[in-house]
Amino acid sequence: PIHQREYLLNGEMRQWNGPVSEVYSPICVQGADGILERKLVGSFPVTTAKEALEALDAAVAAYDNGRGEWPTMSIAERIQCMETFVGKMLEQKKLVVNLIMWEIGKNLADATKEFDRTAKYIYDTIDTLKNMDRNSSRFRIEEGIIGQIRRSPLGVVLAMGPFNYPLNETYTTLIPAILMGNTILFKTPKHGSLLHYPLLEAFRTSFPKGVVNSLYGRGADVVPPVMQSGKVNVLTLIGSSRVADQLQRQHPKLNRLRSIMSLDAKNAAIILPDADLDVAVKECLLGSLSFNGQRCTAIKIIWAHRSIVDEFLRRFSPEVSKLTLGMPWSNGVQITPLPEVNKTQYLADIIADAEAGGASVVNEGGGETVASLFKPAVVYPVKEGMRLYREEQFGPVIPVVAYDDEEEFIQYLITDDHGMQSSIFGTNTDAIARLVDPLVNLVSRVNINAQCQRGPDTFPFTGRKDSAEGTLSVEDALRSFSIRSAVATKDT
Ligand code: G3H
Repeated sequence: PIHQREYLLNGEMRQWNGPVSEVYSPICVQGADGILERKLVGSFPVTTAKEALEALDAAVAAYDNGRGEWPTMSIAERIQCMETFVGKMLEQKKLVVNLIMWEIGKNLADATKEFDRTAKYIYDTIDTLKNMDRNSSRFRIEEGIIGQIRRSPLGVVLAMGPFNYPLNETYTTLIPAILMGNTILFKTPKHGSLLHYPLLEAFRTSFPKGVVNSLYGRGADVVPPVMQSGKVNVLTLIGSSRVADQLQRQHPKLNRLRSIMSLDAKNAAIILPDADLDVAVKECLLGSLSFNGQRCTAIKIIWAHRSIVDEFLRRFSPEVSKLTLGMPWSNGVQITPLPEVNKTQYLADIIADAEAGGASVVNEGGGETVASLFKPAVVYPVKEGMRLYREEQFGPVIPVVAYDDEEEFIQYLITDDHGMQSSIFGTNTDAIARLVDPLVNLVSRVNINAQCQRGPDTFPFTGRKDSAEGTLSVEDALRSFSIRSAVATKDT
């Protein structure tokens, strides 16, 4: 186990002798008495409001109203620091990948992909910033005035990441925010905290003091004082809409706070009567069950036309049941233990709710096997009024709805609180085109004959309604964490 007793504050690794939080893996091992128990991965400091405010002061001082060493450094120099960081990050790959696997139960292949994708994201961000920098030049705005447009930082950023992509999602906000000259406080998620520990030293030695500061401890203790201080200029959260609302309300000048967030989603797929069902089955399987359905971009409800719903289920259900369940280190395992405590009970409850309304599990799924391994379940026919119709399940349960008219699907999206992504499966290009226009105004990305997903990372990653604020693609993120400022010189 890794017992972390220090954290990054103002350029030093501060020792911690106070209380700690133990991290138990979703992965279970046989205890001495033969009973399966969650394995201890390690522990981390439970710092308090006091340490959180010290970290905030460090970030505020390093920014120094835009006069600090970091915000005034040239973009080329900042890029050099980031290149140093990513080099050091790569040296920690093996340990970080292992910790992703143990802390959140992501299978080894996907944990490795998460690490590699994050490193690539950093390099792509650096390249994009180099281009943006090259293109910012002085020009004559109008007769007698020379203008220069710059990209300037925003100030102090509070960055919070989720458990499902604890490295990638955290870094896709943290890295562009740092590169644009902001100073940072970052709060690690409870599941997915220890994997950040080996990288703190890389931050410490790559950037000036106070640029990156870590926050550990219970969110409810350390985040409110930071938000209430009014000194946070940007809140970036990949997490739940409920937490986003709470945090934003804590800021004394909510209207002055920039928020860049990716939140809840209930991505819906529609299967048209003429769809190629092999394609729909394959993409819906990947889309709804990669990493146990624990992705904001996962397909979370499938609408199949009544004329093909039986055939779709006849092909889809066995494929779902065929997925292999097991521990994340075994090759080829697709469904792994769920890290959130009580999650299996929650999933069982929403299935029971649908069953009470007349739906059933149509494959051999549902129910916990051992520990928190949950056999993926396909539930049909799901109808309005059932919890599965609207709630974001964030787990391996797939509700299927039968529809007669596409308008029912459009109305579902109109009345839903979310608006992240949608998928359309069909072969008639006119029918698809008829749906794309209304859909793209209800969600932020429409996928045709393809699953919902974030990548490629050059694509805008955002959402409508409760699903997001601001946009995160490689380039959008650099823009989101900065402001276009101008210098106008009179040509005398
Ligand atoms: O949980 C949200 C992630 O950004 C989803 O990313 O679509 O690449 O799995 P992904």
